[in-house]
Amino acid sequence: MTDQGQASGGPLWIGTSWKMTKGIAEARAFARGLSDHVRRHGTARVRPFVIPSFTALAATREELGPDSPVLLGVQNAHWEDEGAWTGEVSVPQAKDAGAQLVEIGHSERREHFNETTETTRLKVAAVLAHGLVPLLCIGESAEVKRSGDSSRFILEQAAGALDGLTVEQVTRVLIAYEPIWAIGDKGRPATVDELREPFADLGREYGARTGGLLYGGSVGPDNAEDLLGIEQVTGLFIGRAAWQLPGYLRILEMTAAHPKARGVGSR
Ligand code: PGA
Repeated sequence: MTDQGQASGGPLWIGTSWKMTKGIAEARAFARGLSDHVRRHGTARVRPFVIPSFTALAATREELGPDSPVLLGVQNAHWEDEGAWTGEVSVPQAKDAGAQLVEIGHSERREHFNETTETTRLKVAAVLAHGLVPLLCIGESAEVKRSGDSSRFILEQAAGALDGLTVEQVTRVLIAYEPIWAIGDKGRPATVDELREPFADLGREYGARTGGLLYGGSVGPDNAEDLLGIEQVTGLFIGRAAWQLPGYLRILEMTAAHPKARGVGSR
């Protein structure tokens, strides 16, 4: 098999962030359909997660039901537990509303909301302290890629955010590599060849130490299988292609049928 501990035995994470889309009714419909699907088909080695807006969190939780195998996340949380931070939501508040996972450091937050390596470090620590799963997003711009510095850049982002954690804490962190140039409508899907080197570097550093190494950026039914085929990849983080339930379910089904999901051993 492979020298990546997670790839050989851990779950395959398949998640979607709805970003700033979906009202409560849409969120409910999606969650109800997803819940039906996993009840009928199970999830096997696949670990689904959905990340709604805060406004739809409780409704999504309700539709998924208790003990759902689908992890529920939030797109951001503050590092302090409470206080005078107008407009922010803390990790305990997110947990209270049903969140089990917290997305940290998405490039849109780094670009538009002053997220820095230091704030991602504070947030990862806060999320771990409250027993939730941190999903740390890292990724370089087109400019950094052009300069040939991608690996150094993303390894620094990851190292900075995980600085000071114990070995055990690091095992609970998920890392999503999402090159900025590959994200969203204006992005260009990355080729598997372009991703081999960054994932080889991330795999060497974090593959066996963290809870998973995900890929994100223009993931869809057409490229999901190939992306999962990258040796170190143990999950996909999806935006647009999974905002409608059929798109998400297709990728879940493809993942369940992928050779990696049928590999021997489990954690
Ligand atoms: P996209 O978004 O799949 O729509 O490119 C990915 C992301 O931002 O995580």
